[in-house]
Amino acid sequence: MCGNVIGTGVDLVENDRIRELLAKWGAHFKNRVFLPAEQTYCDSKAAPWLYYAGRFAVKEAVSKAFGTGIGPSLGWKDIEVVRNLHSGAPSVVLSPHGMKLARQQGVDQVLISLSHTHHFAVAHALLTRSTKL
Ligand SMILES: CC(C)(COP(=O)(O)OP(=O)(O)OC[C@H]1O[C@@H](n2cnc3c(N)ncnc32)[C@H](O)[C@@H]1OP(=O)(O)O)[C@@H](O)C(=O)NCCC(=O)NCCS
Repeated sequence: MCGNVIGTGVDLVENDRIRELLAKWGAHFKNRVFLPAEQTYCDSKAAPWLYYAGRFAVKEAVSKAFGTGIGPSLGWKDIEVVRNLHSGAPSVVLSPHGMKLARQQGVDQVLISLSHTHHFAVAHALLTRSTKL
C-alpha cells in the first residue's frame, strides 16, 4: 500500500491577531474554534496565543487542502489537532462530519506539519488516498 497526494493546503497566521481575538472574545472564540483538549493544551502554556495560532493555522490549512475553506462542509471543530504524547508531533483527527467529507473526496489520511515563531504560525496539510500496488 502507498498513498497518493490528492490535496494540499498551507496557512500563515499572525500570532498577534489570535492574541487580540482571545483578548476580545475569550471563551466565546475558544469554544467556537477549538475542542476542549486543544484548549487545555494551549491554556497550559505561558503564551497560549502562540499555540492557539498554530492550531488555527492547521485548521485553515486542512480546509484549504479539502478545497472547502471553513464552512458548512468542514467546521472549525471538525478538525482537531492532537499531539503524540511521546514525540510531541501533531496530527489531525476529523469529526464524523469531517470524515464524511473525507470519504466523499476519497481521502484516507490527513497529514500536517506546523511551526511557529514569536510573530507567526504556519501549517501545511496534505491529503492522501491509499492505492494498492
Ligand atoms: C479558505 C480560508 C481558510 C482562507 O484563509 P484566509 O485566512 O482568508 O486567507 P489566506 O491568506 O490564508 O489564504 C488565501 C488564499 O487561500 C486560497 N483559497 C481561498 N479559498 C480556498 C478554498 N476554498 N480552498 C483552497 N484554497 C483556498 C486562495 O488561493 C487565496 O489566495 P488568493 O485569493 O490570492 O488566490 C478562509 O476563506 C476560511 O474559510 N476562513 C474561515 C473564516 C472564518 O470563519 N473566520 C472567522 C475567524 S473566528
